[in-house]
Amino acid sequence: MILVTGGAGYIGSHTCVELLNAGYEVVVADNLYNSSEKALERVEQITGKTLRFYEVDLKDEMAIRTIFENESIDAVIHFAGYKAVGESVQKPLEYYENNIGSTLNLCKVMRDFGCKNLIFSSSATVYGFQEVMPVTEEMQKQPASNPYGWTKWMIEEILKDLHTADPEWNVILLRYFNPIGAHESGLIGEDPKGIPNNLVPYVAQVAIGRREYVHVYGNDYDTPDGTGIRDYIHVVDLAKGHLAALEKFIERPGVLVYNLGTGVGYSVLDVIHAYEKAAQKPIPYQIEARRPGDLAITYSDPSKAKRELGWEAKLGIEDMCRDSYRWQSMNPNGYESESEES
Ligand code: NAD
Ligand code: UFG
Repeated sequence: MILVTGGAGYIGSHTCVELLNAGYEVVVADNLYNSSEKALERVEQITGKTLRFYEVDLKDEMAIRTIFENESIDAVIHFAGYKAVGESVQKPLEYYENNIGSTLNLCKVMRDFGCKNLIFSSSATVYGFQEVMPVTEEMQKQPASNPYGWTKWMIEEILKDLHTADPEWNVILLRYFNPIGAHESGLIGEDPKGIPNNLVPYVAQVAIGRREYVHVYGNDYDTPDGTGIRDYIHVVDLAKGHLAALEKFIERPGVLVYNLGTGVGYSVLDVIHAYEKAAQKPIPYQIEARRPGDLAITYSDPSKAKRELGWEAKLGIEDMCRDSYRWQSMNPNGYESESEES
């Protein structure tokens, strides 16, 4: 049985679908801070299977303990955390407390119950600025430029320390690049609260007329069209990467680190144009100043995951934009729209 923390969230819900489809039993722990229970109902609708849901805050160690008392957990996939880079600069204490504090609580309870297999949602952000592209797992981590990035950075180190102290721990650190898209059913997808911080959710809201135009943050980078380049990965491919990592636990591998990306970089304008094709309508945009802290280019070398996990991304930018648009058109107000209709 797999415990998925943050399982009602964007990546978590897609991973629950893949886990259930593969025959795993799934328990979700989420406080619904940035998500809706409807996502879990939709997961059950897509798969025709059920999961067990605990509405708990991982800052509450006793609540985690209750889950482990009730369920026989073999491994944990730990998605739960706050993830808004800009907000983390404004609220460092909340970010450190929630992301790091929750992880400490979770690991203490896991240790006490003898469950020592953990997959952690890390981020490409730990690489910071690198001279050479693509980014490989061997490259030195760079100091983070915001508290969110530091939480990922530090949690990686904490989990390595845990293994050093007790080699029975198996920890897989998955460094995600830029997950976008949605399940092909259009039933689950990304549902940001308020104004989206990330490019594709913003483009999606422009595509359905919820926002006027895309703000393109800078066209004077040293890239072919001057806009920032990222390694966008379909969220379903990313979800499948977690299943590949789970299977690795059979080898009792200690600590492993993998990039989950496609290895291909697209610029902001590439993404807007791909979305225009998917939506079959123009997406208005305006060039604006650079966003502070943004890198010009970052994309992964995903070959280690292919070699060692037998996983690679299969879906391309067209699939990502098509599935994002389907989700956004079917759910113009995210998970809220259902309650408004009913
Ligand atoms: P999300 O916000 O959709 O999901 C996170 C979930 O965790 C939410 O459902 C939220 O309610 C829950 N949560 C937060 N704090 C909690 C707590 N204290 N107790 C219980 N539940 C809590 O985010 P996501 O995009 O699905 O990201 C999942 C993970 O992947 C996060 O750790 C994020 O930092 C990491 N990540 C995301 C991206 C990205 O671009 N989306 C990139 C790299 C890494
Ligand atoms: N961008 C725009 N307009 C927008 C939003 C973004 O032009 O409205 C541009 C950015 O400048 C960047 C690209 O689109 O060039 C992608 O930006 P996102 O915000 O979608 O993604 P980031 O690469 O900035 O951030 C992601 C994750 C973070 C993580 C970071 C570094 O969302 O969690 O990668 O790994 F920290």
